[in-house]
Amino acid sequence: MASVQENLFASVADKTSTPKNKITIVGVGQVGMACAISVLLKELPDVLALVDILEDKLEGEKLDLQHGSLFLKTPTIVANKDYSVTADSKLVVITGGVRQQEGESRLNLVQRNVNVFKFIVPQVVKYSPDATILVVSNPVDIMTYVTWKLSGLPRNRVIGSGTNLDSARFRYEISQKLCVNTSSCHGYVLGEHGDSSVPIWSGVNVAGVSLQSLNPEIGTDNDPENWKQVHKDVVASAYEVIRLKGYTNWAIGMSVADLAESILKNLNRVHPVSTMVKGFYGVEDEVFLSLPCVLNSQGLVSVVKQKLTDDEQNQLRKSAETLWNIQKDLKDL
Ligand SMILES: NC(=O)c1ccc[n+]([C@@H]2O[C@H](COP(=O)([O-])OP(=O)(O)OC[C@H]3O[C@@H](n4cnc5c(N)ncnc54)[C@H](O)[C@@H]3O)[C@@H](O)[C@H]2O)c1
Repeated sequence: MASVQENLFASVADKTSTPKNKITIVGVGQVGMACAISVLLKELPDVLALVDILEDKLEGEKLDLQHGSLFLKTPTIVANKDYSVTADSKLVVITGGVRQQEGESRLNLVQRNVNVFKFIVPQVVKYSPDATILVVSNPVDIMTYVTWKLSGLPRNRVIGSGTNLDSARFRYEISQKLCVNTSSCHGYVLGEHGDSSVPIWSGVNVAGVSLQSLNPEIGTDNDPENWKQVHKDVVASAYEVIRLKGYTNWAIGMSVADLAESILKNLNRVHPVSTMVKGFYGVEDEVFLSLPCVLNSQGLVSVVKQKLTDDEQNQLRKSAETLWNIQKDLKDL
């Protein structure tokens, strides 16, 4: 007897097709799932694949998202610990990894995450050799270098989320001081993601009006308005959110979705993200730091040659040295 489906539909063509805008997220923790919901609500992927080592958590997250299918425009959500589920991805976001243990050195944490990435990255490349990889796991600049090394991919296709989030926080803090929307406050935080990030005060503007032209001491110790505090708040904000709720996830998730949009929709937009900076501003080693970069369907296609002050360049070189001192001792890359 013919099934209800057979009685309902007269088939005209084969329904199966290869995905065009598949996104994979590796690691379904707090950050991975915030990335997942953000790309879904932006209607970016036609297929979303989730990977983790925790099978029950993975299955639970997949089912929970699938139950929202009625409200989404992503018809296929798949999940498995086997990376075959990620095949043909355009973009792979890596949020997986281990957390720092009490008393553990940064180098030890990085080495443990290198060992995790030694499993993740070859699997990702095996199933999606043409994908762009976006690294979010911390310390993000080092883990992006590790991914670049392990993947063998050209540098345009390995990107770190870098100071994209720091810059978003910076613009938010400026918006609060000026009582104008965040999107109207322009400015970049560059360099290393986190504590030693570098605010580029010379570029901060609203409608093209440079704030430095209105307050030449902006961001310095001599500034009577103490704008320097804005960047201090940016650096402190991650710690504050972690103190209050245990982790950060929503803002990083939204900022990753913004990067994903530029890549999947070939937008050629500029974002502050982590890229290989050897040769820029006197950096001599193969380290990843954030500079304003153009993102499109080829990944990271160019770096904006921004004019930086001597002090800003020195800060970038100092971060580069710190990172290289950790990277040079990493084993098995
Ligand atoms: N770059 C940024 O701006 C930024 C912002 C926030 C958090 N982070 C980083 O993102 C990462 C994730 O944070 P979180 O809060 O989601 O952590 P979490 O502990 O909640 O999630 C990590 C997930 O990774 C999974 N995992 C571990 N090993 C794996 C493997 N081999 N393969 C696949 N999955 C694996 C774990 O099972 C877990 O589900 C951390 O490194 C965190 O520091 C980065």
